[in-house]
Amino acid sequence: MFNLILFGPPGSGKGTQSEKLTTKYGLKHLSTGDLLRSEIAQHTALGLEAKKIMDKGHLVPDEVVIGMICTALETYPDTKGFLFDGFPRTDKQAEALDKLLELKKTTISVMVALTVSEEELVKRLAKRGETSGRSDDTNEGVIRARIAEYNSKTAAVADYYKSFDKVVMVKGEGSVEEIFNALCKEIDSRII
Ligand code: AP5
Ligand code: MG
Repeated sequence: MFNLILFGPPGSGKGTQSEKLTTKYGLKHLSTGDLLRSEIAQHTALGLEAKKIMDKGHLVPDEVVIGMICTALETYPDTKGFLFDGFPRTDKQAEALDKLLELKKTTISVMVALTVSEEELVKRLAKRGETSGRSDDTNEGVIRARIAEYNSKTAAVADYYKSFDKVVMVKGEGSVEEIFNALCKEIDSRII
């Protein structure tokens, strides 16, 4: 299996690039943000609780997202590999993911981290908030809270994978196509 983590702050382009990468490499896209929004859309108890936290721009509890990933890994036993988008976001999630993959006799092949300036992130998310209906995009305070959560709890997850020499950084500014090509170059050099 080839398992990829597409890493980066809110608005760095994880979702945009995930769609293109999963099509090209035949990977299963697992986005914890999308899974949570699907729970919200279905008005489940988990969704209702998660929405309160997401609307503040905070992270939902580790157990919740780890449980969702555990279920998703079991749902697609025959995939060529997974693309994790927005997960893991804490050291605890990273360690849990390692254990889950180990049980499946596989591991993370590479983490590709998108780098984008904070002002560009805010600009992108505020613009999307005008039309997307995503409640965590509509208020600049919440956008900045999401970025602050990333800086205080998530950015360090890259250090965990750096210690296994699994991290590559890719500039996430420029056209979608330019960034996609840069990502593919890094992935192709690691895929064999
Ligand atoms: P999640 O859904 O993961 O959102 P996020 O990480 O905050 O970021 P986005 O999805 O908004 O951005 P993205 O990097 O995917 O960029 P995109 O391609 O959309 O999480 C939402 C919430 O759920 C969290 O705040 C948390 O509460 C909870 N959550 C999720 N996972 C969790 C976890 N593991 N643990 C705990 N809590 C969790 O692009 C953004 C915009 O920019 C789009 O409009 C796009 O069109 C545009 N854009 C993309 N590329 C470019 C480009 N190259 N140039 C210009 N614009 C571009
Ligand atoms: Mg996303």
